Amino acid sequence: MADLTGKVAAITGGTRGIGRGLAEAFLAAGASVAMNGRNPAKGEQALQEMNAGDRATFFAGDVTRQADVEAFIDQTIERFGRIDILVNNAGGSSGFALVEDLSDEAWDQAAAWILHSCFWATRRALKDMKKRGFGRIINISSVEGRQANKATAAHYITFKHAMNGFTKAVAFEYGDAGITSNAISPGAVETDLMRESGPAAAEAMGISYEQFKDNYAQEAAIKRLNRVEEIAGLALYLVSDAGGGVTGAIMPVDGGTAL
Ligand SMILES: NC(=O)c1ccc[n+]([C@@H]2O[C@H](COP(=O)([O-])OP(=O)(O)OC[C@H]3O[C@@H](n4cnc5c(N)ncnc54)[C@H](OP(=O)(O)O)[C@@H]3O)[C@@H](O)[C@H]2O)c1
Repeated sequence: MADLTGKVAAITGGTRGIGRGLAEAFLAAGASVAMNGRNPAKGEQALQEMNAGDRATFFAGDVTRQADVEAFIDQTIERFGRIDILVNNAGGSSGFALVEDLSDEAWDQAAAWILHSCFWATRRALKDMKKRGFGRIINISSVEGRQANKATAAHYITFKHAMNGFTKAVAFEYGDAGITSNAISPGAVETDLMRESGPAAAEAMGISYEQFKDNYAQEAAIKRLNRVEEIAGLALYLVSDAGGGVTGAIMPVDGGTAL
């Protein structure tokens, strides 16, 4: 188990789902954690449920906006004095359509949500990490960043692939500064997002929510969805001392979906 006592982590989109799982794992390992998210009520609720006292904090902001992302990094440093761990987790897309019908708005939104946010946060945090010669950057990519087998998601697929490229470029530039940069590529995970939007999506497809989830499970070699704890376990390794020799890696936690 990683000992993160004294370490400070900033996690975009940390109030629910995968980001929340990572926040809880880092807190349990002794770190202080700053989370961001668009909805302050969700932030307050997360803080209450985590019950981590002054080792956890929340700053509201939308990662599709550069000023919000940079403010989040600055607020984290102001609150805890430093950033040792950055997780670029918030990301997504909307306006799903075949490429011929994909709108500029959907394309630009996905670019900002997934890729620009990652660049903005990383650029800002690197300056602080360099001062101490230590940093751990984890980008939450996706199995869709390693393959293209879903129609109507070209924007999501493209910017998750690009995120992997950025992950490697940062690893190359900052390896000798004690800073690692890795990506985790989850397969399907039943997060709040899936619980909330899955039943409606399943209904639209004329199947039950259980069947909907099973379709994802059958794509994986393990024939089930992945779990947030499985992603958190890898993240804990990557931020630990033992993980210091791993950088520029794009690591799947997809149960063998994109073999
Ligand atoms: N779940 C999966 O199956 C799966 C698979 C592969 C990859 N991923 C990736 O994992 C990451 C997290 O997904 P998830 O399933 O954990 O989602 P989730 O359960 O919906 O949680 C998303 C979190 O991010 C916040 N968030 C969303 N958009 C934001 C924005 N524009 N600015 C700031 N915060 C934002 C949400 O809070 P607010 O709503 O309050 O902003 C929430 O805290 C994403 O990058 C996603 O692409 C997920």
